[in-house]
Amino acid sequence: MSRVLHRGSLLHFLDDPQKGLKESYQYFIDGALLVENGHVTAIGDAQQLIESLPSDTQIQEHKNALLVPGFVDTHIHYPQMDIIGAHGEQLLEWLDTYVFPVEAKFADIEYAQQVARRFLKELLRNGTTTALVFGTVHPQSVDAFFSEAQSLNLRMIAGKVMMDRNAPDNLKDTAESSYRDSKALIQRWHDRGRLRYAVTPRFAPTSTPEQLKAAGQLLREHPGVYLHTHMSENLNEVAWVEELFPHLDHYLHSYDDAGLLGRRSVFAHCVHLSEVEWQRMAETQSNIAFCPTSNLFLGSGLFPLAKAESCGVNVGLGTDIGAGTSFSLLETMDAAYKVQQLQGHSLTPFKSFYLATLGGARTLDLESKIGNFIPGKEADFLVLDLAATPLLEQRMQHCEDLFETLFVLSTLGDDRCIRESWIMGECKHRRDDSALSEPQP
Ligand code: GUN
Ligand code: FE
Repeated sequence: MSRVLHRGSLLHFLDDPQKGLKESYQYFIDGALLVENGHVTAIGDAQQLIESLPSDTQIQEHKNALLVPGFVDTHIHYPQMDIIGAHGEQLLEWLDTYVFPVEAKFADIEYAQQVARRFLKELLRNGTTTALVFGTVHPQSVDAFFSEAQSLNLRMIAGKVMMDRNAPDNLKDTAESSYRDSKALIQRWHDRGRLRYAVTPRFAPTSTPEQLKAAGQLLREHPGVYLHTHMSENLNEVAWVEELFPHLDHYLHSYDDAGLLGRRSVFAHCVHLSEVEWQRMAETQSNIAFCPTSNLFLGSGLFPLAKAESCGVNVGLGTDIGAGTSFSLLETMDAAYKVQQLQGHSLTPFKSFYLATLGGARTLDLESKIGNFIPGKEADFLVLDLAATPLLEQRMQHCEDLFETLFVLSTLGDDRCIRESWIMGECKHRRDDSALSEPQP
């Protein structure tokens, strides 16, 4: 049995700060996290916890650092990591010009493996320990992704894109083949260790109603699998959906009609929802991935977080790589703050860190496994370096409380702040030791 006590400043959330700040988080200036066999078994003040433990307990000290639960990215495309920063287009043209050509390369499983390996390493470099991930239309893209994730023991959710219209021929499946291929992937990967499957129609414009129905059938036949797609990201996209589904009232209806809404359904963006759509999201307990760097980069619009809150719709943060411009959830918090500022709201850093941890876990219906340090949870956590750069170190000296510390971290922070990423109690990324995240043979 392994038992290690991690000592340092500790922060985690018990609930959404919106519901009452004081009860929503725990912060220990000199704290300790006890990890046994990959799980958290105790959290508290270091002095007290150390006194209660056998004297031979191994202690790891983390100086000038803040320990937080691993970050959760609720929407990202692994095949798009090599087209980040593609210039000049909005969503629909960007897909045609940049996305489809790069996704075509994933027909080759060796290429897919190579990208999956680099992608997971980059996630860990940025402190992301769990993500909801798009593959491509090729089932082998998902095999490659899951086998790399499994070798790092990561908690990941992913799926094969379903896309049977309005896409290049080499990237199209059919309602029938997408059903069959997705089913085989579910049987191969869903609930295998820490992995879970998401049925992944790209978005309504690239699926026929028959294919969306096939997605619904997969959800009914496999309770527990997820639904992952895009919705209402861009105004031209919304208008196109109205043309393609003239008999339906609104965008969300195309998914609702096929039985795709629910607690394990995650819709990326939702920038331009109507009132009825918001109500339906709430009624069905569907979830949203808020992707601020992507929405700014593609000029898609400003996500109304306050509206989601007032409707009681669960929200997590997503990087949406490759439309998003950073793998870092810290940089994503910075963009989220600015997007709210432009709408007259000031996102607090407590809310931002909640969204990146427990909020993300809730969005992915994984609260029983990850998201905070409640005993019993899987020990995925980060050691954030509060002196990662000369500027940050200096700026931190002027921070008077936790609020300021977190806000400055979200404003100035990036991958340099991730000193270490720990997965199930094992260090898989150390900033100054890249060999750690090599997969085990
Ligand atoms: N909508 C449909 N496909 C995509 C995609 O790959 N990225 C983004 N941002 N939006 C989409
Ligand atoms: Fe996306």
